[in-house]
Amino acid sequence: MFPPGAGPAADPAGDRHERTIRSFQPRRSRVTAAQRDALLRLWPRWGLEIDGDGPLDPAALFGGLPVVLEIGFGMGEATAEMAAADQGTGILAADVHTPGQGNLLRLAERASLTNVRVANGDAVILLREMLPPASLAGVRVFFPDPWPKTRHHKRRLVQPEFVELAALAMAPGAVLHCATDWEPYADWMRQVLDASPSFRNAAPDGPDGFAPRPRERPLTRFERQGLTKGHPVRDLLYRRLGGPGDGRA
Ligand SMILES: C[S@@+](CC[C@H](N)C(=O)[O-])C[C@H]1O[C@@H](n2cnc3c(N)ncnc32)[C@H](O)[C@@H]1O
Repeated sequence: MFPPGAGPAADPAGDRHERTIRSFQPRRSRVTAAQRDALLRLWPRWGLEIDGDGPLDPAALFGGLPVVLEIGFGMGEATAEMAAADQGTGILAADVHTPGQGNLLRLAERASLTNVRVANGDAVILLREMLPPASLAGVRVFFPDPWPKTRHHKRRLVQPEFVELAALAMAPGAVLHCATDWEPYADWMRQVLDASPSFRNAAPDGPDGFAPRPRERPLTRFERQGLTKGHPVRDLLYRRLGGPGDGRA
């Protein structure tokens, strides 16, 4: 798809690291000419391979800014919008979707953003193998694949193992923000997060005990599709415990 050594790698971590949560199907989707151009030009500067090899200092990527990890940014429109609205935060945006990576690079260039890095590969490997403890000021998971069939539930990203990996990489007080339009997944996320010793629900005062929709979260592409089908959208905001006075680790 790209000349040797150019653009994002097809499978940066290869089989060197165990994949315990298979939340995506490995595939290479077709990129448009504009996305390809953005990947060829901008990947060397703003791209990052999730190869699982060695630790990564996320703050160093952004000149010391606090860093929020967004997992599964899709086409990246919401990511670029949030990065533009808060340029004092570095956005480490991870996905495996090559067209989306090209699109996000294009959007970031068009808006002259310097606070977005595009990470290629499995965010579980990024969390488990590369991010130091307490190095993130937040984690965002917007409209992850719901894997609705019962036999596929183990492929859902948000599950106890993932939540504890995220907790390790998050600083005390950092917020894990999840959103979904799939009601059973919303309930599942709540159960998993409520059972975690590492988090506390920071905003249980929205509909049915979920969070009120945060104003700073733009409408995402998948959310729009869910809304046209009449799906209710749920936000969950959970704070990483471990700060003074929390009483829990
Ligand atoms: C349903 S889409 C949602 C995209 C976007 N957040 C939105 O709301 O429009 C889920 C995205 O998560 C990505 N994804 C799934 N598992 C992932 C993982 N383990 N690491 C990185 N990205 C992942 C998929 O490639 C896909 O782009």
